[in-house]
Amino acid sequence: MIQLIKQDIVSRDLSYDIILSSSIIEEKLNYYETNNLNPLYIVDENISKIYSKLLPYDKERVYIFTANEKNKSFKELIKIEEFLSKNNALRGSTLIALGGGITGDITGFAASIFMRGISFIQVPTTYLSMVDSSIGGKTGINFDDAKNIIGSFYQPKEVIIDMNFLDTLNDDEFLNGFAETIKVAAISDAEFFNMIYENSQKIIDRDKELLLTIIEQSCILKSNIVKEDTYETNKRMLLNFGHTLAHAIEIDSDNQITHGYAVALGMIYEMKYGVEKGYISDVAFTKIFSMLEKFNYQTKYKINNTDKFLSALLKDKKSTSNGITLILTDENMIGRIVEEIDAETLINIFND
Ligand SMILES: NC(=O)c1ccc[n+]([C@@H]2O[C@H](COP(=O)([O-])OP(=O)(O)OC[C@H]3O[C@@H](n4cnc5c(N)ncnc54)[C@H](O)[C@@H]3O)[C@@H](O)[C@H]2O)c1
Repeated sequence: MIQLIKQDIVSRDLSYDIILSSSIIEEKLNYYETNNLNPLYIVDENISKIYSKLLPYDKERVYIFTANEKNKSFKELIKIEEFLSKNNALRGSTLIALGGGITGDITGFAASIFMRGISFIQVPTTYLSMVDSSIGGKTGINFDDAKNIIGSFYQPKEVIIDMNFLDTLNDDEFLNGFAETIKVAAISDAEFFNMIYENSQKIIDRDKELLLTIIEQSCILKSNIVKEDTYETNKRMLLNFGHTLAHAIEIDSDNQITHGYAVALGMIYEMKYGVEKGYISDVAFTKIFSMLEKFNYQTKYKINNTDKFLSALLKDKKSTSNGITLILTDENMIGRIVEEIDAETLINIFND
């Protein structure tokens, strides 16, 4: 079964298909190999080992990338640009990112700046990248202790989601990504949020049919928001629920807490701040907290280095001249943007 979601972008020539299926990748890659174009590949090292059969015989066209936050860097970006140059990539060339969010983010950025933009295709292989990072065109690298601070908005030509990749993804990485589904439900779809809450055990057990529906709905919700505000001037900021604090937690923990788990903690502490300041009710907080507790996410965090944490918060891209910005949501799962956050109260909440 193939589900097709259209990601419309304000400028129609940037619109693309998101293809969701449970076994499509061989067929699609075969198409690119035979009809093209000699595509170039940036492949997550683990994927290159587990799925070596998917890769072309000609290894010169494959760049193996070790996916971790340290390598989401200028150093690796330069190596990828050298790889593109060595392979004589042209504007008409196609670059395929095969891996999770880290691989997709750096590949998208590399594609966006080589010859001012070559086309690229996202093949997300983690749950997180299937429902979130492969869609919407945010690309980037980390720099100077700030997450994703250098990057571009650059849309892929196509996103190919093959659920079979999830078969080899461990439970830890699955839950890491599932936090992004909880997030998008929490800011925009109460019915979906309740369905997830009621089916938590089936989800933890990875019921494939249910997951297909959940991945599809997560992609649709994200895609609708991106369509309305591609360049994050307003509504798209809602997708950052949990992320302002998550980025500081990732930096403060030296990336020991990975992105999705940090987002789960970020949602909890952002909601705690919202209650403290009277922006949201206890009921709204409890709904988010209970959901995350039900999926066994870590619900408490102790800041290691307050100065580093604060500096990461202030360097966050979501900060404006008015200071830090947070996203909150209410008991009906309607997200909202709150500006001029008081950093001292925010830090103190972690000590409660
Ligand atoms: N661009 C965006 O809009 C956006 C949105 C959310 C997150 N992100 C970024 O995404 C990144 C996190 O992405 P991630 O969670 O996918 O991490 P990741 O890319 O590091 O992948 C996690 C781990 O899973 C392994 N892996 C990947 N696919 C596998 C598979 N099918 N089977 C077995 N192992 C597999 C990888 O080798 C890696 O060790 C962060 O850097 C975050 O900033 C970007």
